[in-house]
Amino acid sequence: MTNKTFYITTPIYYPSGSPHIGTCYTTVACDSIARYKRMQGFDVMFLTGTDEHGQKIEEKAKEQGVTPKQYVDEISKIFKRLWETMNISYDRYIRTTDDYHVEAIQKIFKELYDRGYIYKGEYKGKYCTPCESFWTESQLDENGCCPECHREVTQASEEAYFFKMSPFADRIEKLLTETDFLRPKSRAKEIVNNFIKPGLEDLCVSRTSFSWGIPVTFDKKHVVYVWVDALFNYCTALGFKNDRYNDYDKFWPADVHMVAKDIMRFHAIIWPAMLMALDMPLPKHLAVHGWITFNGQKMSKSMGNVIDPFILSERYGADAIRYHILREMALGADSSFSNEIMINRINSDLANGLGNLVSRTVAMADKYFGATLPKEREAGEFDDELIAEATALRDKVDEFIDNTQLNNALSEIFKVISRANKYIDETTPWILGKDESKKARLATVLYNLLETIRITTSLLSCFMPSEMPKIWEQIGASADDVNYESAGKFNVLPLDVTVHRGEILFPRIDVEKEIEALNAILGDNKDNKDDSFKPEELREEINIDDFAKADLRVALVTKCERVKKSKKLLCLQLDDGMGGRQVVSGIAEWYTPEELVGKKVMIVANLKPIKLCGVESNGMICAADMPDGTCKVIHPDESLPNGSRVR
Ligand code: MSP
Repeated sequence: MTNKTFYITTPIYYPSGSPHIGTCYTTVACDSIARYKRMQGFDVMFLTGTDEHGQKIEEKAKEQGVTPKQYVDEISKIFKRLWETMNISYDRYIRTTDDYHVEAIQKIFKELYDRGYIYKGEYKGKYCTPCESFWTESQLDENGCCPECHREVTQASEEAYFFKMSPFADRIEKLLTETDFLRPKSRAKEIVNNFIKPGLEDLCVSRTSFSWGIPVTFDKKHVVYVWVDALFNYCTALGFKNDRYNDYDKFWPADVHMVAKDIMRFHAIIWPAMLMALDMPLPKHLAVHGWITFNGQKMSKSMGNVIDPFILSERYGADAIRYHILREMALGADSSFSNEIMINRINSDLANGLGNLVSRTVAMADKYFGATLPKEREAGEFDDELIAEATALRDKVDEFIDNTQLNNALSEIFKVISRANKYIDETTPWILGKDESKKARLATVLYNLLETIRITTSLLSCFMPSEMPKIWEQIGASADDVNYESAGKFNVLPLDVTVHRGEILFPRIDVEKEIEALNAILGDNKDNKDDSFKPEELREEINIDDFAKADLRVALVTKCERVKKSKKLLCLQLDDGMGGRQVVSGIAEWYTPEELVGKKVMIVANLKPIKLCGVESNGMICAADMPDGTCKVIHPDESLPNGSRVR
């Protein structure tokens, strides 16, 4: 047992409605890491919670005729129930309405003010009078109107406090580009180019136009606006500036903050700046993952209950859901959710892979040896390879956990599970079982399989905590056999181990019937296989010369940013192999700039230049329509040189 500590956090969630599978990803990922670190002997603090202040909450509560506090009390219960359903082992749950947090934020705000980093100024923006809301230019709808009620907005200003960002620009740039703070590192360039290089804007940190927030102690008509309140939860939950807890010295700085890409900027720039302003140590790592998407869009509560984690985990068990979302998401990329992919994944990996390995091995030990293996052994072909792979596994998983690459960790574990299934085919125990003189060899084969199951399931138990103990029971492993130490060793189970046949753990699902059943429960057509898609009518015929007029080329996106004043436009800098060009494209609703940088695109290269929202565009990015009205950019093969012609 080491006395090393490990502190990991999820974002705190807005309690603004029913959570969905997308909401679960970060928490399931952090939970798996927290469990792994506990298994390694670390003293772990795993924090999650709810972000309960702000205008939106105030409005929702009003709509429902309850007080904001009553509203958040109800929704935070739903989150807690979800985490129980998903078997989340958080150590602490913070609610930003908790007294100790409120008191600490007031002190922090005052200290930032006293140190000269917060000053009073004027918040200028677009104001929607009926909605009583300020909007930034980029939040307005395509007609420059209020994104909520689509009525006209006026230029207005309101007294507000601001946090000075500029003193920290250099240090933050170094943090992002010269250290391994940000994961994946590939996001650093984008964030530096888009936000730091153009000059960091000061951040509005107080408001007077609504009251559901933490009051500023020295200027009572102001409430603390969002990010100071939200971000400092990571410290107040440990007892920073309050007496409720006393773990700040023990756990701060955090080892890992995990967030999705939409809140990366707040965590990669604003959060370090605030900590620097208070001379506090910075978190060690910020792990940024993509979104779970549905029909090509970020999954969100408006998409229907087909992705309701309560329903899914009731049908397949929390472990299967946890496994699926962790396995599908590579750090840094989005992952597209569909019930069909999920069910196929459960069938192939959990039913055919792991479940089959366990049931075949236990059944054979039962059949040939009456459940207890004899102690005689006889080594044979294929043993060394299986043993070597199984014993090397723990170190590989350690590394993937430390680099927050959970999909790779799972993939390594399942490689060994596949190897064990192959070992059964290679060693043919059912033939050995027919020959009395091969009993020692058969016992060896079954023992090697039981050991491989023990090692893989010990490691898997951090990702799938509910089902693995049932497997240990079946393979006759005691608690001492399934810890971190023994996961790195072979020959841990007693030679004469006794197995216990039990239930089938991951029964195969009939895909078609299950999809039908899901649709019946959840309403038709909610899965992302949209059969209703009808391609548009073909246009009139052209000859090859007409086509040859369009000059299509491959290009690389080197830089990308939003066009100011437009919700729809992105401005892309391209390496087109001909000196580079700038193209403006109407895809901002479906792509963030970071997603496109470094990708190959196909462009119409000989279009006459035009100006869109005042920005010159030299060509057009090719994209294709999705059934739901969104679109996807066409990405040519990576090996194609920039500038090569598409024919
Ligand atoms: N309250 C802020 C975070 C403050 S942290 C100091 C917030 N809350 S949120 O509820 O809107 O989102 C919480 C997290 O869930 C974010 O990281 C968000 O990106 C993530 N996800 C919400 N939908 C998601 C998917 N569809 N896929 C993956 N993650 C998703 O932002």
